Amino acid sequence: MTAITVLHPGAMGVSVAASFVAAGHDVRWVAQGRSAATSQRATAAGLRSVDQLTAGCEHAELVVSVCPPSVAVDVARAVAATGFAGTYLDANAISPETATKVASVVAASGATPVDGSIIGMPAHRADTTRLYLSGSGVSEWVDKLTGGPLAVIGIDGGIGAASALKMAYAGWTKGSSALLLALFAYAAEMGVDGPLLDEWSRSQPKLSGQLEARAAGTGPKAWRFVGEMEEIASALRAVGLSGGFHDGAAATYAALDRFKDASPPPDLTAVVEALRSRA
Ligand SMILES: NC(=O)c1ccc[n+]([C@@H]2O[C@H](COP(=O)([O-])OP(=O)(O)OC[C@H]3O[C@@H](n4cnc5c(N)ncnc54)[C@H](OP(=O)(O)O)[C@@H]3O)[C@@H](O)[C@H]2O)c1
Repeated sequence: MTAITVLHPGAMGVSVAASFVAAGHDVRWVAQGRSAATSQRATAAGLRSVDQLTAGCEHAELVVSVCPPSVAVDVARAVAATGFAGTYLDANAISPETATKVASVVAASGATPVDGSIIGMPAHRADTTRLYLSGSGVSEWVDKLTGGPLAVIGIDGGIGAASALKMAYAGWTKGSSALLLALFAYAAEMGVDGPLLDEWSRSQPKLSGQLEARAAGTGPKAWRFVGEMEEIASALRAVGLSGGFHDGAAATYAALDRFKDASPPPDLTAVVEALRSRA
């Protein structure tokens, strides 16, 4: 049994923590600074909490960060400030360059960094979600963390490799959703959304069927996707590719920030209206 602290039981983090419990580990989360929604989510999953970050770091051999990508470096700094000297796994959707920064921040306090990324839905069932790990000693963590619904997979390439995989994967899934919604909003703005749907039904029959699902699937999380798209744009630029696609995706998702955590999620009409109102 390994003592693990999962810092932020959001929609994904709570399932990661529960999967580690199912794998036989002693898992805590840190209540300091978190909202009632996070607390309720963690309690419903049967997770045990500690009040303060310092206690969470003292408890753990492994600290896991699953948070909005835009705050990943700040979270690493806060952990380093406690003097944490165990293993620090950042599992967020951040660029390899940000992952390298996170690694150097936690290494300065004596911790061993592991790079991670998560692909799939929150891991409540087997065969839905993969946690990719890269960095030194990951094979040991693959063995330890395997056993719950979350599949844990080690890849070569050191710090940054797991993050690069996520950039390439989410660059398509979330980038293409932003592109599809932005183009449909453009057609609506120009009064040709009906003819576009007719044309798609003839030549691109899958697209019209995806519109509602992509509006509902991205609207409530769009606020968090802004930082993720910025990370992808920066990752592409770092290797000489254009970051412009994902700058545009970031701006598109920023226009949907009013739907943060909306339940039920917005429909296509509401998403198109929000995009047009920012045009
Ligand atoms: N959800 C998915 O399907 C999915 C899929 C693949 C990967 N991921 C990755 O998982 C990570 C988190 O996603 P999620 O779905 O769990 O997000 P989420 O449901 O929005 O939860 C985010 C968690 O982080 C906390 N948080 C918010 N602001 C923070 C801050 N400034 N400092 C520290 N913690 C903060 C939130 O706490 P409070 O709101 O209580 O403050 C919440 O507990 C992201 O990096 C994402 O890319 C998610």
